[in-house]
Amino acid sequence: MKYVASEQSMLLKNYTFAESVQVCPAAYTTPGDINMTNFPVEKIRADFPILAEKIRNKPLVYLDNAATCQKPQAVIDSIVHLYSHDYANVHRGVHTLSVRSTDKFESARSKVKDFINAASEKEIIFVKGATEAINLVAQTFGKANIKAGDEILITAMEHHSNIVPWQMLCEQTGAILKVAPINLQGELIYAEFEKLLTDKTRLVSVVHMSNALGTINPVEKIIAAAHHKGIPVLLDGAQAIPHMVVDVQNLDCDFYVFSAHKLYAPAGVGVLYGKQALLEAMPPYQGGGDMIRKVTFEATEYNGLPYKFEAGTPSIADVVGLGAAIDYINEIGMVNISAYEAKLLDYATEKAKKIKGLRIIGEAEHKGAILSFVLDKIHPHDIGTMLDSLGIAIRAGHHCAMPVMDFFAVPATARASFAMYNTKEEIDVLMNGIESLIEVFG
Ligand code: ALA
Repeated sequence: MKYVASEQSMLLKNYTFAESVQVCPAAYTTPGDINMTNFPVEKIRADFPILAEKIRNKPLVYLDNAATCQKPQAVIDSIVHLYSHDYANVHRGVHTLSVRSTDKFESARSKVKDFINAASEKEIIFVKGATEAINLVAQTFGKANIKAGDEILITAMEHHSNIVPWQMLCEQTGAILKVAPINLQGELIYAEFEKLLTDKTRLVSVVHMSNALGTINPVEKIIAAAHHKGIPVLLDGAQAIPHMVVDVQNLDCDFYVFSAHKLYAPAGVGVLYGKQALLEAMPPYQGGGDMIRKVTFEATEYNGLPYKFEAGTPSIADVVGLGAAIDYINEIGMVNISAYEAKLLDYATEKAKKIKGLRIIGEAEHKGAILSFVLDKIHPHDIGTMLDSLGIAIRAGHHCAMPVMDFFAVPATARASFAMYNTKEEIDVLMNGIESLIEVFG
């Protein structure tokens, strides 16, 4: 796990702790200061109402955060407040509610800009999610710049949303999709990736952190190598964004995409970051209201950034909820969240390795808070169902990454994925649950 030094590490000082909670040191300088006892996890848990639910009469142990994570009260309240007091359509009215709604919507854009350190709000496009963002880039940047015989380079650990849009573009244009291989640890074989960067490569599109394996790719190296050949790079940040500091200017990526629902925010909204010059040069994705400056039956003049890519009424409340989620995360500090989750993952991995018959799928040296595994003789779907009976939510399946399953020769995996509100005790419950089902069914 790579940490980027950030002022965020100091922000925890401002967080209001319940008296019973052990408080983080007043000031600390490195994420190494965070551990499983001084991170204010109990205070954080109290902010997520759903975590108090009982599932099958047992306390909920929610470990399906890579699929979607739960929402803090601050996010829920921001939506209720908007609909109760400020809601109207954005960018369209002069009346008070429209102005209030627009201010909140645009203030969320500004929060996203700061959160990923983009250079301008013009570079933040609101879309439905990471999937739509990649499709947007494929159908605009791709169609404008990629021709028959050109190559698009991805890796063998991509989610379907970073495979299929490129396959569709290849069908439309005659371009060729190239896939850089991974090794048995689930890491990109970088030397092979570099060999596949050729004079024909027009775009590199890689996952920042794999949803099926947890692998964190060496994206700085990938970007530098691609840029050396003048090739732009898209990073699929759907899994990385809730777990690590993302600084798009520091990374120098050309596009970065993520979904809000994995960042403690509502589903239905996501972000496409693109460098301004690239976005300016791209044709629009969809036509409609808000993306135009002037329309006649003869011709249409498109709006400027970011609105050129935001046709139609957006998911206003969800965007406002994303702004609230970012405020919430900033109060705790992403550096601290990363450090705590790294400890959770280490603890879970160590315990999992001691279970006979459990095989971890994805053992990259640089890994985020995901533990994919299979058990001898028990199908992952049965693992998921049986753990549910103990109140434990994990995901079982191919995780929208069928080529990864093929590579590891498994039909599916069981996947526990951690968030800042998970605890060491919940990992104990998971591991005890796995041991008990091995005992009964293994
Ligand atoms: N892509 C999401 C996952 O990994 C849905 O579960």
